[in-house]
Amino acid sequence: MNLTGEKVKIRNLTRADIPMLVKWKNDPEIADLVRGGPINTTFEAENRRYNRGLDEHSTIRLIIETLWGKPIGFISVSDIDKDNHKAQIGMLIGEKDFWDRGYGSDSLVTLLDHLFGQQGFNRIGLEVFEYNLRAKKVYEKIGFEVEGVQRQGLYRNGRYYDIFLMGILRENYLENRQSLRNKAEKVRT
Ligand SMILES: CC(C)(COP(=O)(O)OP(=O)(O)OC[C@H]1O[C@@H](n2cnc3c(N)ncnc32)[C@H](O)[C@@H]1OP(=O)(O)O)[C@@H](O)C(=O)NCCC(=O)NCCS
Repeated sequence: MNLTGEKVKIRNLTRADIPMLVKWKNDPEIADLVRGGPINTTFEAENRRYNRGLDEHSTIRLIIETLWGKPIGFISVSDIDKDNHKAQIGMLIGEKDFWDRGYGSDSLVTLLDHLFGQQGFNRIGLEVFEYNLRAKKVYEKIGFEVEGVQRQGLYRNGRYYDIFLMGILRENYLENRQSLRNKAEKVRT
């Protein structure tokens, strides 16, 4: 896969990316936001995961790069269900200097344009912890809705936290994308 957005390019994960992916996943702040605790992955574990990925087709693992080719993050499309045209996604911007600069939002929009526009998906789901306010904001801005709450689904540092189950449908995404575009046009004129 090779996609280009306004701020990012998205391409398939390669074996050469594995050390960087290990560094990102083992960052305590990132691990807390994506897993709710340490991930402690290793090069060997990620290498095995990469090898397994070569043989199975229910997950696509992607690297986010800046337009000038610096790798800054990772997105996975998992649980791909071709019968029901749906999948789950997970993402991280591993280079923290790039947080809050629009890279995450552009990555997601670029990927959703492709999944809904070219690949025939009808729904995309994801999970986000209740304390991950930045991620939830990004998802809501793009049009994801909270469809359910797994109450106290995460045990972290001695207390329980809810997990929001969010989803977006193709028709809602395309509507929302159009209204975002209209707003941008109005600002310009
Ligand atoms: C979540 C993540 C992918 C978002 O990417 P990003 O590039 O940082 O996000 P963007 O800059 O596109 O957008 C961030 C938005 O959140 C807002 N935001 C930042 N901190 C916030 C907070 N504490 N509460 C609410 N909103 C917040 C920003 O203002 C911005 O909204 P705006 O565009 O309306 O101004 C990225 O920060 C990341 O990888 N975080 C660590 C891993 C993670 O949480 N992954 C998601 C797991 S579900």
